[in-house]
Amino acid sequence: MTADGFESTGHDDPNIARIYDYLLGGAHNFAVDRDAAAKLTQAWPQIQQAARVNRAFLGEAVRYLAGPAGIRQFLDIGSGMPTMGNVHEVAYGVAPDARVAYVDNDPVAVANSQILLARTPAAVAIEGDLHRPEEILQHPDVTGLLDLSQPVGLLLVAILHFFDDDAHPERLIGALRDALPAGSYLVLTHATGDGQAEAVTDAATLYRRTTAPFRLRSRTEVLRFFDDCDLIEPGVVLLPGWADDRQQSRTATSEDRLPIYAGIGRIR
Ligand SMILES: C[S@@+](CC[C@H](N)C(=O)[O-])C[C@H]1O[C@@H](n2cnc3c(N)ncnc32)[C@H](O)[C@@H]1O
Repeated sequence: MTADGFESTGHDDPNIARIYDYLLGGAHNFAVDRDAAAKLTQAWPQIQQAARVNRAFLGEAVRYLAGPAGIRQFLDIGSGMPTMGNVHEVAYGVAPDARVAYVDNDPVAVANSQILLARTPAAVAIEGDLHRPEEILQHPDVTGLLDLSQPVGLLLVAILHFFDDDAHPERLIGALRDALPAGSYLVLTHATGDGQAEAVTDAATLYRRTTAPFRLRSRTEVLRFFDDCDLIEPGVVLLPGWADDRQQSRTATSEDRLPIYAGIGRIR
């Protein structure tokens, strides 16, 4: 247990959830994760900024879903370590009756989320793997909290680039989409190599060697993940700027854009 009451276990290998936590300035990480993050930053100096704009988009997306889209239940797969701007905190700020199920395959991230949520009856955290969507959908904590016959906000934020093509991410998304009623929403972000310098590809290769598969995808490939969805304006865009583009305030210039696509689709 760390000083702030969270789970800490000794780990020899760097891990996705903890590297991301470190890049966001969190405290739930170990020396191996910080070393890996330092190497990734050396390869691609904007990686920390990318983690932050990704997290900021997650907040924008949840505010949009809980606000104008009227969504009251969220299924957040690949939710990561609890940190600033957790989905339930953002959602409750807009809709105090919102419910959130967090899912991650990292037991430490799940244990820390469960500690944070101990006194939050409208949110649960479970260990689950996106490779097996049916187990997530049938998990008693998920079915006990979410009514899957009613629209759900499905969040797959910064997780799909950890899936190689042979894991068939489009089928996994399809299985989730098919299980949710029309009027549900799919939110995702995804790293890309589109128009990028070698640094991004180098970081992806390094990530791959250090932790897990890492697959950059083009905009066309990311758009395929939104099959059977109507894209919400401004469509799939590079971050930062989804919310600005939506309001057509266009404060992010093309030089500000990072190689992360983001989009929200309404499931038909
Ligand atoms: C980069 S973090 C993103 C966290 C959060 N979604 C966000 O965008 O702020 C990716 C998370 O996906 C989780 N993850 C990776 N592969 C997974 C899988 N197969 N099933 C469930 N979670 C997975 C990692 O453990 C990590 O916590």
